[in-house]
Amino acid sequence: MPEQLTDKIVQLALRRGFFNPTAEIYRAPAGFYDLGPLGALVKSNLVSFWIDEFVRRETSYEVFLIDGSLILPYDVLKASGHVDKFSDPKASCKSCGRIYRVDQLIEEALGLKVEGKSLEELEQIVKTRGVRCPHCRGELSDFREHHLMFKLSVGGAEESAFLRPETAQNIFLNFKRITYGMRAKLPFGVAQVGKSFRNEIAPRQSVIRLREFSQMEIELFFAPNDERGPRGFEEVADTEIRILTREEQLHGGEEPIELKAGDAVAEGIVPNRFLAYYLAKEVRFFKLLGIPPENTRFRHLLPEETPHYSGGNFDLEVKFSFGWKEIVGNAYRRDYDLTVHSRGSGEDLSIDNNGVKMIPHVVEPSFGVERIIYAILEHSYREGERDWPLLKLPRIISPIKAAIFPLLDRENLTSKALDVYYALKRSRKAIPVYYDDRGSIGRRYARADEVGVNLCITIDYQTLQDDTVTVRDRDTAEQARVKISDLEDLIYNDMFRLEGV
Ligand code: GAP
Repeated sequence: MPEQLTDKIVQLALRRGFFNPTAEIYRAPAGFYDLGPLGALVKSNLVSFWIDEFVRRETSYEVFLIDGSLILPYDVLKASGHVDKFSDPKASCKSCGRIYRVDQLIEEALGLKVEGKSLEELEQIVKTRGVRCPHCRGELSDFREHHLMFKLSVGGAEESAFLRPETAQNIFLNFKRITYGMRAKLPFGVAQVGKSFRNEIAPRQSVIRLREFSQMEIELFFAPNDERGPRGFEEVADTEIRILTREEQLHGGEEPIELKAGDAVAEGIVPNRFLAYYLAKEVRFFKLLGIPPENTRFRHLLPEETPHYSGGNFDLEVKFSFGWKEIVGNAYRRDYDLTVHSRGSGEDLSIDNNGVKMIPHVVEPSFGVERIIYAILEHSYREGERDWPLLKLPRIISPIKAAIFPLLDRENLTSKALDVYYALKRSRKAIPVYYDDRGSIGRRYARADEVGVNLCITIDYQTLQDDTVTVRDRDTAEQARVKISDLEDLIYNDMFRLEGV
């Protein structure tokens, strides 16, 4: 069987330091991954780029960035609904004892979409359609709900807290302080980037389904009667967005309709301009990250998958080599969260908006960091363009911006190359660079291309005479002669080059 793209990405990730299972030298539980040296740089670049695009450069309203605790008290998650309703259906095999997530098992065995069905309905499907253990064909039994939060006992108290299952809750908890402390006026957003934890039954596909993962979330607060939407809506109103409608899904179809963000609101498909604004921004964001719009779609969740309080959920799905998968959840949460936390805490979370007391409504885009990194890796991976694999990462995401090579391992060339390397490392611009003098230049290009290094800089005999070097571009393999004194600016400007703007 030909090697699958997922296998190639995982092998590359392991070999070159993007990611690897946590505690892999032990028999460790699945669903935990560490980012290696290159993966950590990619994540930090992605997070900075996201903060730039969705927080710092947001001109439609103010967005405040916070950094909250990973551990939240029982009462918070009781009020939010997570304690009572945050579970997946599971069953175990009578013969081999393996445990399965029942909805996934049915989807894989029968190709049926069953999200939102009750445990009893799922058990019924398994029994009537003869779904069995995929490992040993044993009978499935012991159907029950599996709670997804990790319980903690803080200071010895039983069940007094949980690891947070999403970053969003800290934002609602800080809402009042931010409103007053930052003198925030509606509409405004609060963003957070950080770890979330879910005790998944069946973590799988390397970093796609994890038990510990990172989210980048915004809660955008607005007055429910604000139909004008964000200030910059007109700028994105003509952005084409692809929506997989509920009707299409009910007919078993996979074809999204394509329409302008403004029309999606006018036609009542997307519930308001704030949500449509984010859908349009996401199309642009992922285009800049090398994921073209034709490989994305917004799936309008079916009523049975949508929480009762929601005014509409649109999952941004990306086409991976193994199929479509959600990477961003977009939800119109109305006033649900602030209302339940007002009730749960006894603290009135309504605010005065131009003389009117109200609980603002909320639109929430929620990005999964690891899934996005994986999507970028798959979309950048090229075979056949060179004699070796090439990772055409977006320049801004590449972990390393330049590699410094002496043409040969000769003292006069290596010492000059090291001077160039250390000068770049010491620069206030703190450009991630590395030095490599092992093997032929061809092999060094191959090693650099495989991890997406933007530029390769070679110090040769001409350098010793005129202080110029060759600069090779990763994507075109073209070379240019450049003065050493111009290198720092050249590499720095190149790393912010965005394609598809
Ligand atoms: N606050 C809303 C929320 O958490 P979600 O759809 O459950 O929404 C948002 O999660 C994003 O977080 C997903 O689109 C996905 O990218 C990421 N995510 C969720 N569960 C994950 C898991 N088990 N492993 C990796 N990423 C996950």
